[in-house]
This record gives sequence, structure tokens and C-alpha cells, in this order.
Amino acid sequence: MVRNYDESPVDPDVVDRALRNATRAPSAGFSQGWGFLVLDRPGDVRRFWAAATDPDDEQDRWLRGMSRAPVIVVPCSSKAAYLDRYAEDDKGWADRDESRWPVPYWDIDTGMASLLILQTAVDEGLGACFFGVPPDHIAAVRQEFGIPGPFHPIGAITIGHPAGTEGAAGSPKTRSRKPTDDVVHRGRWRE
Ligand SMILES: Cc1cc2nc3c(=O)[nH]c(=O)nc-3n(C[C@H](O)[C@H](O)[C@H](O)COP(=O)(O)O)c2cc1C
Repeated sequence: MVRNYDESPVDPDVVDRALRNATRAPSAGFSQGWGFLVLDRPGDVRRFWAAATDPDDEQDRWLRGMSRAPVIVVPCSSKAAYLDRYAEDDKGWADRDESRWPVPYWDIDTGMASLLILQTAVDEGLGACFFGVPPDHIAAVRQEFGIPGPFHPIGAITIGHPAGTEGAAGSPKTRSRKPTDDVVHRGRWRE
């Protein structure tokens, strides 16, 4: 994840490629219950930060570096799309009972699509960062950009040209990657 950008523009073709790749993500029942709000004009990017942050927030390192990114994609998931899809005859969950779902596949699939956006950015020599929109700012973001009821922003992704090291470092600065052997359990889970 890159949290510091310069202000040089991103080639719109690259953004289009990232979005095309996002639509190749796997999805349960091929539901594709996702939508991607793309903000690639300076005014729109400014409106995003105004809606997603508090006016009295200090312009901290994180925000200064992140808000220079010229492109933001807001991936949104639709639970309703999955309930509708699985109510079809070949799936047969016509009762739309949410207890049938082991985990929220709508968010998982939109997360997988988000990873394809991140990977496309890296593949193109750009930087990107997936980050959370604070719960108390979701309504403002929805309102500002007309995100319709069934769609829920699962976060947001900045895309841009990485700039130096002065941005926020992120958690890897203070935590190390867990060794593979600590997280892989072969044959039987061991503590
Ligand atoms: C679901 C999710 C939410 C995240 N939220 C934030 C965030 O709000 N702010 C941020 O700077 N990074 C965020 N990250 C990025 C993680 O901090 C980052 O992936 C992790 O520290 C590992 O670093 P790396 O991806 O650069 O290897 C998030 C990542 C994920 C997958």
C-alpha cells in the first residue's frame, strides 16, 4: 500500500484497465453484486475527502499524502444482488434467509475485485492503497456521490504515482509479517 503520491495525473487507460480487471474477480453465483464509483477529477477527489473526513481533522501525514492521489475508486457491494441471485431457481434460496450465508460474500467478492485494482496499479508501476471510510462518514459519501441504497462502500482505493517516503508508513513499519509456518496448519490446526 502506498500512502504518499505526487500530483501527476494517472493515464485514464490504466484506470480503465484496473476497472476491467476488477470485473474479472470471482463472485458467488456469478452475482457480480459490485459497483465502482470512480473519482478522477480534482474537484471530485476534493469532495470525497471533504465527505470522508472531519473538517477539524488535522492535515496529518496520512491525509496529506493520500489526498494528493489524483484518482479514487470507491468499491461498493450489494447484498441485495446476492439475495436476488440466490433466490433464482438454480440456487433455490427463495426465502432470502440471510442465515444461509456463512460469511458476507458480497463484501468478499468486492474485496477480491479491489485486490485486482491494487494489483493492476502495481503492474502499471503506480501506487495504490485500500483504506476504510469511517462509519460515521459513510452517509456523507453516499449522499455526496448519489450512491444508491443497495450499494454499500466497502472502503476506498487511492491510485497515483508514488512519491518519496515522507507519507505515513502504515502498520508494516511497526509489525513484521507473520512467518508462513505460523499461519499455515497442515493436516491439523496447531496452536
Ligand atoms: C480491509 C483493509 C482495510 C485497510 N484499511 C486501511 C486504512 O484505513 N488506512 C491505511 O492506511 N491502510 C489500510 N489498509 C492497508 C493495510 O494497512 C496494509 O495492507 C497492511 O498494513 C500491509 O501492508 P502492505 O499491504 O503494504 O503489505 C487496509 C487494508 C485492508 C485489506
